[in-house]
Order: sequence, then structure tokens, then C-alpha cells
Amino acid sequence: MPKVFITGVSTGLGNSLAREYLSMGYEVYGISRRAPENLKNVKNFHFDSADIREPIMLQSTLESLFQDVGELDLVILNAGISGKIQNISETKMSDLQDAMKTNLWANKELLDALDRLRIELKQVVAISSSSACSGIKGWSSYSISKAALNMLIKLYSAERLETHYSSIAPDLIDTPLLSAIFQTPNSEKFPTIEKLKKMKILSSTEAAKRVIRAIEKVRELPSGVFVDIREN
Ligand SMILES: NC(=O)c1ccc[n+]([C@@H]2O[C@H](COP(=O)([O-])OP(=O)(O)OC[C@H]3O[C@@H](n4cnc5c(N)ncnc54)[C@H](OP(=O)(O)O)[C@@H]3O)[C@@H](O)[C@H]2O)c1
Repeated sequence: MPKVFITGVSTGLGNSLAREYLSMGYEVYGISRRAPENLKNVKNFHFDSADIREPIMLQSTLESLFQDVGELDLVILNAGISGKIQNISETKMSDLQDAMKTNLWANKELLDALDRLRIELKQVVAISSSSACSGIKGWSSYSISKAALNMLIKLYSAERLETHYSSIAPDLIDTPLLSAIFQTPNSEKFPTIEKLKKMKILSSTEAAKRVIRAIEKVRELPSGVFVDIREN
């Protein structure tokens, strides 16, 4: 049975990815701080609660989750936060560091922890964002953290030739993260928020199906690549 490990399975895209892979016959391993209520007692779903920003807790959680696992077909680094939507010139260093901790450094800690456990990885996919490249006013700490995440993945791809690495930007998805962006205070300062509200927003189930197709297709491209689903 193929095995996939997904971070951030309590809500949104990660939860739908877990459901889709379970329906495809995968053994699914997931972490997040909150447990996914809809996947409780589901066969072939293995969950442990962890804060990916806490390296010691993360290492011990992964140790117990993967006690009997020597190989993972797929790792999806999905957990992420939007951070505050605000001008970069007004963004406090603490806000930048906060987004970097979750969206970037936690993923390095996680990949290194899996390496220490000697788990062989066939494919690693980081869930990125089109804002990694677009530089939209207001998407300050989020854009910087996702751009850096793309580079983190590229750097691992240069060292770990046995694993296929990629970063994938999904569609706009109806999730708590997007709702939080839509509720930004003084949103009139950031015209993109109103534009996004008028754009096509997918359900997390539809988005997960499209991400899964992209994960399969990206293996034909060089390791380390960044793919934006909306441009393909
Ligand atoms: N929604 C969109 O339109 C959109 C567009 C482009 C990219 N993305 C990306 O898609 C990914 C999923 O986002 P989403 O929209 O599905 O957001 P979401 O519904 O808010 O889900 C985020 C997930 O990450 C987990 N998470 C956050 N911080 C964590 C931490 N410190 N430790 C462990 N888990 C943590 C959350 O679980 P807990 O809170 O229970 O820990 C939750 O399961 C993110 O990387 C996001 O940047 C989303």
C-alpha cells in the first residue's frame, strides 16, 4: 500500500488531500495541532498532534508516528499560515519571523527529522503560493516565506538526488486561511483582496484533486521545480 505523509490535516487543503488519498487506497499519515474530527477512526489514517514550530515535539511525534515505517512514497508539506496582510514597510520583524517559522523553518526541521529517522522519501511536495513570485502589495510576510520555501526545496533537490522535490502553488481555495485574508482590517488599502473575492475559488475537495494531478505530473519535470497550477 503506498504511503503519504501530509502536514496540516485538521482543515482546508490538507484535510481534503488526506481524504482523497485515503479514497485512492493510500496509507495516510498526518499531523496538525488539532485533530481532524472527520477522519477519526478512519481505517489507514494515522494521526498525531504536533506543532511543527516546536522541533523537539516534532521529532518525538514523527518517531512515534513512523515507528514501523522505513519509506514514504510522498511527503506533502502543506501546513501554513497567511500571516498579517500589511505593507512590508509597516511589517514588524516579529510578524515576518512568525510567518517564516511556520512556512519555512518548520519544513526544514521536518525534512531533517525524517532524515534522522532514516526514512527514505520518494517524493516531497511543498504547498507554495503564486504570491511567492507575484509581489502583491500587502502579501508581505506570506510572499517572502513562500519564495524562501521554493528555494529551500530547490536546495534540498540539489543534495538529495534519490528524492523528487517540487513546490506547487494551488488554486484559490475556500479555507479558513483565505477567509482570514478576506477579513483583513482596513482591506480597502489592499485592492487585491476585493479582486480575489471576485475570482474563481475552489472547494478544498476540488483543489485537492487538482493538486494530486499536479503531484503526479510534476515527477516528469526536473527535481526542485516550482509549478503554479493556475498557469498550467
Ligand atoms: N487557501 C488558499 O487559497 C491557498 C492558496 C495558495 C496556497 N495555499 C497554501 O495551502 C496550504 C494549506 O492552507 P489552507 O488554505 O488549507 O489553510 P488552513 O485551512 O488554515 O489549514 C492550515 C493547516 O495548517 C496547519 N498548521 C498551521 N500551523 C501549524 C503548526 N504550527 N503546526 C502544525 N500544523 C499547523 C493547521 O492545523 P492546526 O491549526 O490544527 O495546527 C491546518 O491544518 C498552506 O500552505 C497555504 O499557504 C492556500
